[in-house]
Amino acid sequence: MDIFSRREFLERSAILSAAAAAVGTGAATAADTRPVAAAGRADKLRVAVVGVHGRGMSHVSGFAAKNNCEVTVVCDCDEAVIGRAMKQIEGAQGKAPRFEKDIRKVVADKDIDIVSIATPNHWHALMAVWAMENGKDVYCEKPATHNVREGAIMTAAARKYKKICQVGTQSRSNTGMREAIAYVRGGKIGKVDLAVGLCYKTRKSIGDTGLRTGDQKPPATMDYDLWTGPAALVMPRRNNPNDKYGPVHYNWHWLWNYGNGDLGNQGVHEMDKARWGLGKTTMPSSAFSLGGRFGYVDDGETANTQLCVFDYGPEKMVFEVRGLDTKDHKGVKVGNIWVGTDGYVVSPNYTSAVAYDKAGKEVAKFSGGGDQLHFDNFVKAVRSRKVEDLNCDIADGHLSASLCHLANISLRLGTEAPLSKAAAVSDSKTVNEFAARMLDHLKDNKVDVEGTKAKFGPVLAVDPKTETFTNLAGDQKAKAAALLFREYRKGFELKDVV
Ligand SMILES: NC(=O)c1ccc[n+]([C@@H]2O[C@H](COP(=O)([O-])OP(=O)(O)OC[C@H]3O[C@@H](n4cnc5c(N)ncnc54)[C@H](O)[C@@H]3O)[C@@H](O)[C@H]2O)c1
Repeated sequence: MDIFSRREFLERSAILSAAAAAVGTGAATAADTRPVAAAGRADKLRVAVVGVHGRGMSHVSGFAAKNNCEVTVVCDCDEAVIGRAMKQIEGAQGKAPRFEKDIRKVVADKDIDIVSIATPNHWHALMAVWAMENGKDVYCEKPATHNVREGAIMTAAARKYKKICQVGTQSRSNTGMREAIAYVRGGKIGKVDLAVGLCYKTRKSIGDTGLRTGDQKPPATMDYDLWTGPAALVMPRRNNPNDKYGPVHYNWHWLWNYGNGDLGNQGVHEMDKARWGLGKTTMPSSAFSLGGRFGYVDDGETANTQLCVFDYGPEKMVFEVRGLDTKDHKGVKVGNIWVGTDGYVVSPNYTSAVAYDKAGKEVAKFSGGGDQLHFDNFVKAVRSRKVEDLNCDIADGHLSASLCHLANISLRLGTEAPLSKAAAVSDSKTVNEFAARMLDHLKDNKVDVEGTKAKFGPVLAVDPKTETFTNLAGDQKAKAAALLFREYRKGFELKDVV
């Protein structure tokens, strides 16, 4: 079965029709609008990799001397981190790339065909839209967005400027995962009505009680104004003792100004797989989350423990984040389980899965894949100019990131109550069982579940057409609306092209 059938693609396009109509195109192709100089340069594609402290190194490997691509520019606002990337690219291509500190110079450069974004989340949408309106195709890291509205804007921009925009949830290109999802969606485990996503990844404190980090200086090698970009400009406040480049990098994930917690970090991979397995191409009709940051007090703001429930009518999605040490659930720490009337499928990673019948007997196995396939797939679509050739078009990246954002909004709007209340939080036996296991896990980590308060969010009713909430009033409505988008700092505003 072709899991990316034309029919599904058209359904997905229909969902986006409002955005597409507003910008005057419903077309699912992205005609080559590269500058003449670039289009005339045989088949060579010139790539700028943006942000090379961590994930950007995989972008370097993914493009340098692969698929007739050349990394011609490395862009990072911290020049201290670029050495590895420059060396690796020179080694692979026999020619060092140019270094640029300022993304605005990169998007204005007519000699660049592709902008590959591996910066913190708060920059993704702005860089992607700037790049696309300047004629470049975009590979953008997950989560596609920092908030819900950005996803509609990025999708509309891709269609308006006829650009290819792939999101970096690389499971989508792995043969093992594609076969497993086809199996789930092909009725092999009966009617599937539950998709589970788990993100059990130990995350340490970023600064202890009594030693709260206070304002720090960004490294002298960094243009911190550029690093901050559209976010509110505040000095860094976090420890990162194992990072020789200072406190700014990576631990931004745990601050709302830049990150989306582990739900939008590791979790968005499993969120994307969960939704993919259910074949859902809209937002859910409702989203709920409870949780908090337990086990230590530090400068982090996002939850390290979170239970989320999404309603797609007969099908439900349950997602759990655990940041304290934990054992697995059914052999999975970071992965997925899809449950059907005739069996279930378990996937403990990005590349493999095992199917079981109702009695728990193994009936099928799937494996295979690797990061490079996702970059290969992107370049293929850049050349074909067909959005449907992409394994994770921005429309998909937007929906999966939005599930994380919706749950985080529910949590942030939540009211405080003792954690123990979680055990009977739902009418659903399945949800309550997840909550009970979460409480046991917290007790194993010496968290006092009677004396510790958690946040219990409202169930947010979502209108999948407008991607807004329909059941809130007054102050809560205003707060929720603000969390669907953000205030963009002067000079870094995101144009609403929808
Ligand atoms: N697909 C995956 O498997 C995967 C894995 C890890 C991270 N990621 C994603 O990749 C992104 C980067 O994560 P990371 O762990 O590498 O973060 P990081 O903080 O370690 O690195 C980000 C880099 O971006 C640079 N940067 C920030 N603002 C910039 C700007 N305005 N211009 C140029 N450079 C800028 C920083 O200086 C830094 O070098 C995140 O969105 C993350 O979610 C994806």
